[in-house]
Amino acid sequence: TPEDVKKYGIGSVLSGGGSAPASGNTMADWENRINELKQAAIESRLGIPLLYGVDAVHGNNNIYGTTVFPHNIGLGAAHDEQLMTQIGEVVAEEVRAAGVQWTFAPTLGNAQNERWGRTYECFNEDAGEVAVLGAAYIRGLQGEKGTEKYLDEDHVLACAKHFIGEGYTTGGTNQGNVDMTEEEFDALLDSGLLDPYTAALDEGVLTVMISYNSVDGVKCHENKHLIQEVLKDQLGFQGFVVSDYNAIQQTSGKNYKEQVRLSLDAGVDLFMEPYTWQDSMQAIIDLVESGEISMDRVDDAVSRILRVKFEAGMFEEEIGGTHEKELGEQVGSEDHRALARQAVRESLVLLKNDIVKDNQTIMQALQNMDNLIVAGSAGDDIGKQCGGWTITWQGATGNTTKGTTIFSGLKAAMDKKGGTVNYSANGVFTDSDKKVDAAIVVVGENPYAESSGDRSAGQLKLPASDISTIKQIENSHPDTPIILVLTTGRPIAIADYVNDQHIKGIVNAWLPGSEGEGVADVLLGDKDFVGTNPITWTWYPQDITSKYTDTSKVLYPVGYGLKKVEKTGNFTTIDDPNVVDLG
Ligand code: GLC
Repeated sequence: TPEDVKKYGIGSVLSGGGSAPASGNTMADWENRINELKQAAIESRLGIPLLYGVDAVHGNNNIYGTTVFPHNIGLGAAHDEQLMTQIGEVVAEEVRAAGVQWTFAPTLGNAQNERWGRTYECFNEDAGEVAVLGAAYIRGLQGEKGTEKYLDEDHVLACAKHFIGEGYTTGGTNQGNVDMTEEEFDALLDSGLLDPYTAALDEGVLTVMISYNSVDGVKCHENKHLIQEVLKDQLGFQGFVVSDYNAIQQTSGKNYKEQVRLSLDAGVDLFMEPYTWQDSMQAIIDLVESGEISMDRVDDAVSRILRVKFEAGMFEEEIGGTHEKELGEQVGSEDHRALARQAVRESLVLLKNDIVKDNQTIMQALQNMDNLIVAGSAGDDIGKQCGGWTITWQGATGNTTKGTTIFSGLKAAMDKKGGTVNYSANGVFTDSDKKVDAAIVVVGENPYAESSGDRSAGQLKLPASDISTIKQIENSHPDTPIILVLTTGRPIAIADYVNDQHIKGIVNAWLPGSEGEGVADVLLGDKDFVGTNPITWTWYPQDITSKYTDTSKVLYPVGYGLKKVEKTGNFTTIDDPNVVDLG
């Protein structure tokens, strides 16, 4: 409460995923609540301005009506640096409009095992690619270092997360263990895993969030070698280190005070302890008084936090000023949504594109078709196409926020062409005898976030209802070519569909966000596919752990993506010579 902020001199407050103000989830609700807390900080004993942080990981996705961009895996498929910076700029504006000055983004992990529930929060499997896109995103969020824009009132503090190794846990288990010795892990760091953080530091990132995972059984939150020696000493990080949500409570300390000591000593400067913040404050006081933590360490942490607040202009910040109101008028604007729509277009990856007639590919033929049907649970469901971290922490299917669904975009495009298109989620159409030129079936994963998205290899497949919708269309329209549009946060098992001759096209739209009409711009418009696969995709998820050592298990390598005129190779078996090996 504001009273707590004033009484205890709290320096930072956050909203975890889905934690909206009690008064409601509009921009005004957020602005009013946050400005109350900021005012209370000014009235505290030292009057140090309050830092407010949220997980704006694909837009200011907590608040109803904001622009929701494709999740990072789709932006990785788009792989457009300039677009990343433009997205960062817009996200920053829609975050500042709420009075928030800090976002816990971007994730700089590089997913190795798509069983992991946070695969979609990563840009690519390759740390080098993550470094490029992460830096471009930070440049947009913060404004370019060394320019007037850097951390001005239109920009926010970014957060390089989660330090470090989150994509390498055994079995892809979220918050799990990286089964390497310290020496092996140090070698991995030096071979490129540090690159995204080096690039982020060069870009002027001033906050780093520590990862839940452990390395060789030691939790990162108590790993002094990684935080103090590598991040702060070796890389020279001058900003502050923030712990993850209750993460210090996973360290080996036998009680809470010991857990605080281990993390503080390891190099954590700011504690994200939303339920035990009073205990953590008291623990630090006790630890200094008992001499278990030096005053120097506390001074180091405090000076880092103050340095960031000064750099971010917080001592000059006008609470709830007119500029914040001006930014509020642009939230969810046409221009912002047009940028998100461009990102959707560029994120689409064409995986299968068979010849259908007159030596035309299905994507070429689609341009001249007049009668379409659309089916599938993800066809007209904005919540499903947005995925996790949208309005709520886990996200949800249904009409959860503003935007356009994939079907509404397809319908607008067909109306414009004078064609017809009808939608049925389960694929049952009353006039099933009516001639149809093609069926577009839009199916995918239901929303999830973090550990809720962890899957066994056998679970990495479409939901049963989607599988039956595909069968329904195949049975009711035996002569109609099918185009599968997937909304997934990661590679899933699609071998059956790659080999299914009834399915002439497969597109992965990843998790496109609020501007689903970007899909129609490519499928039915004059835009071509430019997206490429950002994570090695095996024929079968059971082969994930051997995908980097046995290329015969690979269906689509990183970099794979067809144009409308490029026909698929006829992949019939795993070791088919047509399996594209882009090297
Ligand atoms: C979560 C996530 C982290 C997020 C934080 C605050 O558990 O691990 O990415 O920024 O808590 O919501």
